[in-house]
Amino acid sequence: MALHGTDAEPSGSILYVPEPEQDSALSRFRLKPPSSGGAVEIPCYDCDIASDPTPESPTGMSLAQDFTYADVRTDRIKVHGPAGFAGMRVAGRLAAECLDMLTPHVVPGVATAELDRLAREFILDNGALPACLYYRGYSHTLCISPNHVVCHGIPGERTLREGDVANIDVTVIVDGWHGDHSRMYALGEVAPRARRLIEVTYEALERGVAAVRPGARLGDVGYAIQSYVEAQRCSVVRDFCGHGVGRVFHDAPNVLHFGRQGAGERLEAGMFFTIEPMVNLGRHPVKLLADGWTAVTRDKSLSAQCEHSIGVTEDGCEIFTVSPGGLFKPQ
Ligand code: MF3
Ligand code: CO
Ligand code: CO
Repeated sequence: MALHGTDAEPSGSILYVPEPEQDSALSRFRLKPPSSGGAVEIPCYDCDIASDPTPESPTGMSLAQDFTYADVRTDRIKVHGPAGFAGMRVAGRLAAECLDMLTPHVVPGVATAELDRLAREFILDNGALPACLYYRGYSHTLCISPNHVVCHGIPGERTLREGDVANIDVTVIVDGWHGDHSRMYALGEVAPRARRLIEVTYEALERGVAAVRPGARLGDVGYAIQSYVEAQRCSVVRDFCGHGVGRVFHDAPNVLHFGRQGAGERLEAGMFFTIEPMVNLGRHPVKLLADGWTAVTRDKSLSAQCEHSIGVTEDGCEIFTVSPGGLFKPQ
């Protein structure tokens, strides 16, 4: 097993995540943070708990000590080893299984809150946690974004209707690893332009994924998506992006779905991130509703999105969120 430079100084903007030692449950608590000695400075963008040590820690240590730099958001892109891939495979599969499970329930007349309840119970029944629940004040398991909602639609009493298209986004935490995944659902007969938008969005994700390999740049991924989407006379949302993922939900890097070839961070095997393009039939600007979450297209045009969590491999990438039921694309 390759051990990614546990004691090495970090190089450039990359952070090598050490593999846990197999023989010691507490081994990760002995890991040195990359910057020398002293207190671990924990940037708490993603995890307020890390700066709030309490005596309730399961190990008896303070929570600040329990966290390694694999567990907190960092500016540098983390590079994971085999243990990370193993963790993400399990988390990604459960996220995909959750959306597979929902598929037969996504029918005209279903309340979005009911889908949220089904997802929450499924995740908890599988010994996992819904990552969005209580994340930054969000109080649901899913984001459900119909029609002109771009992302972060809040489940509620609203029912999905014949002709709607909706994105459902779920993130599960399994053994500390985050599986983040979303798909489009079409309710009954949908308009041809809605069908076309969904197809463009899936193709955009596939082209972004195909651009991922060691040595490629994040700008190559954005370019692959943007150039295709705009050639289809659709637009790429600028205000939301994909993100590093792993033991942190939203980590570096920001994965923009537009960009220039050869620009941006250089990819390396072991980096984990999401690609989750949001594509509009009309123009790209969005606005936030008064609830503080729901983003909609300014011009009220239809919007679609799909998302995979992936890991860069030696010869391309591994998709962690493959649908076991072959249900990724809507029928
Ligand atoms: N799953 C979303 C993503 O793809 C994040 C949702 S955060 C929430 O990054 F709080 F809105 F749920
Ligand atoms: Co997501
Ligand atoms: Co995401």
